[in-house]
Amino acid sequence: MDTTPRRVEHQQTDRGYVPVYATGTVEQPWASYSSTDHEVWDTLYRRQKALLPAYACKEFLEGVERFGFGEGGIPRFDDLNEVLGKATGWKIVAVEGLLPDEVFFDHLANRRFPVSWWIRKPDQLDYLSEPDLFHDLFGHVPLLLNPVFADYMQAYGKGGMKAHAIGPEALMNLTRLYWYTVEFGLIRTDEGLRIYGAGIVSSKGESIYSIDSTAPNRIGFDLERVMNTKYRIDTFQQTYFVIDDFEQLFDATGPDFTPIYAKLATGEATSAAEVLDTDKVYQRGTREGFATSGDN
Ligand code: PHE
Ligand code: FE
Repeated sequence: MDTTPRRVEHQQTDRGYVPVYATGTVEQPWASYSSTDHEVWDTLYRRQKALLPAYACKEFLEGVERFGFGEGGIPRFDDLNEVLGKATGWKIVAVEGLLPDEVFFDHLANRRFPVSWWIRKPDQLDYLSEPDLFHDLFGHVPLLLNPVFADYMQAYGKGGMKAHAIGPEALMNLTRLYWYTVEFGLIRTDEGLRIYGAGIVSSKGESIYSIDSTAPNRIGFDLERVMNTKYRIDTFQQTYFVIDDFEQLFDATGPDFTPIYAKLATGEATSAAEVLDTDKVYQRGTREGFATSGDN
């Protein structure tokens, strides 16, 4: 089977200037992974497995255990789907890479999570500019076993279709919510702040930074504040938003966003590093090493 990614065009996205792939789903070409591909999974898995018990929330860690992720090479999506389907009715589908917004939202709204089938190269263990299998699978899929988070992700997909119909500004507000929760969210626990965001748990450097560094702000989750805050795509985050639990996230995002979109359209967005008087501040960052321009 020819497993060369089919790069059809390039497009400016919230993750930078990246190739956009074919939009359909594919069979995971498991038999064609190379031994290097499997070793990359094993190496990344081993690193995060050793690190995350002290950094990630228990719901994420439990998810990793329930799937039985390990160092036996890249998991087979069919096996994971057995577990996932029984737990929350979600399903992983293999894709070539980033999808157009409407296609992505349609998957989520129907409890399908698209996972890039290909994995990064050995010289990209610490950073790559587009989501690969390790980010999509290890980062996102464990929490889909949590019933409340699973419902949040579906609601987000439905909300995405609505925002898309309203227009680009609404979509930007909604994308910021995804960024600061699904990708870069922190959660309060009895053991202190812990990670639930996929963009953090799939990165060794940001896992440590997001919890241990004194540089970034850590601020209590507030829906409008988050939807109005720009973010960085090129550095570790300057601000993390902290939820109390997944119920808070689900409940806060339940109401119709239409009036919020209308209100935010009339004002200025908050920059990524800013702390407001109205914020519930867990930690005011020292801003050490912050870039001074270029938020989105
Ligand atoms: N309540 C949102 C709306 O009306 C939908 C949504 C739910 C968005 C959960 C994000 C997360 O658009
Ligand atoms: Fe992601």
